Amino acid sequence: MDADTEKARAGAAAAQEVQDGMLVGLGTGSTAAHAIAAIGARVAAGLRIRAVATSRASEALARRAGIAMLDFADVPRLDLTIDGADEIDPRFFAIKGGGGAMLREKVVAAASDRMVVIADGGKRVAAIGAGAPVPVEILPFARASLLARLGEGAVLRPGRDGPYVTDNGNNIVDCRIGLQNPRESAAWLDGIAGVLGHGLFLDEVDAAYFAQDGTVSRLER
Ligand code: 5RP
Repeated sequence: MDADTEKARAGAAAAQEVQDGMLVGLGTGSTAAHAIAAIGARVAAGLRIRAVATSRASEALARRAGIAMLDFADVPRLDLTIDGADEIDPRFFAIKGGGGAMLREKVVAAASDRMVVIADGGKRVAAIGAGAPVPVEILPFARASLLARLGEGAVLRPGRDGPYVTDNGNNIVDCRIGLQNPRESAAWLDGIAGVLGHGLFLDEVDAAYFAQDGTVSRLER
């Protein structure tokens, strides 16, 4: 089964967790887009929810799908967030930010009672850091000094016309940092002035739907 079909299946399965009256966080990326479509189909069939998006792209998708959207700046708590990941391991440690939205994704996840990750089988790894870099959102003002600080494997993510610019107006550095101790790595990144966020999600994920070989499995932390 191809990865996009797996993504669609994982997204559709997780969309069933959404219940009437919930405030829902909507993730970013191709897998999250499938979940948004599946939630939209349930809204069209009568489900009443309100949602916030983790990116402008997901906001637009959700509005087109008929989901009532709120501004996250006005929302103190959410019931559930459904989002994709670039890698996730058996400790429920995840790397996110391939789509560049990890800062908003993390604050939305932190405000949610539960975060559910949806992924195709290729995202399931024995330990995070297997292949994906760790995306780091940086203050453009400090770009050169932060690139130097983030080490040899750090690459400024390119955009269409110069460096990639996030929905927050910042840049992203994709870092190859050893993840033997992900908590130490996260603490190191958190301590660098000018680093505004990063894609190490170590405590946020409560459950995951993996679609692989024609079946969807759900794992709870
Ligand atoms: C965006 C993300 C995405 O959820 C992650 O990159 C997975 O993307 P996709 O579902 O397209 O494979 O973290 O910032």
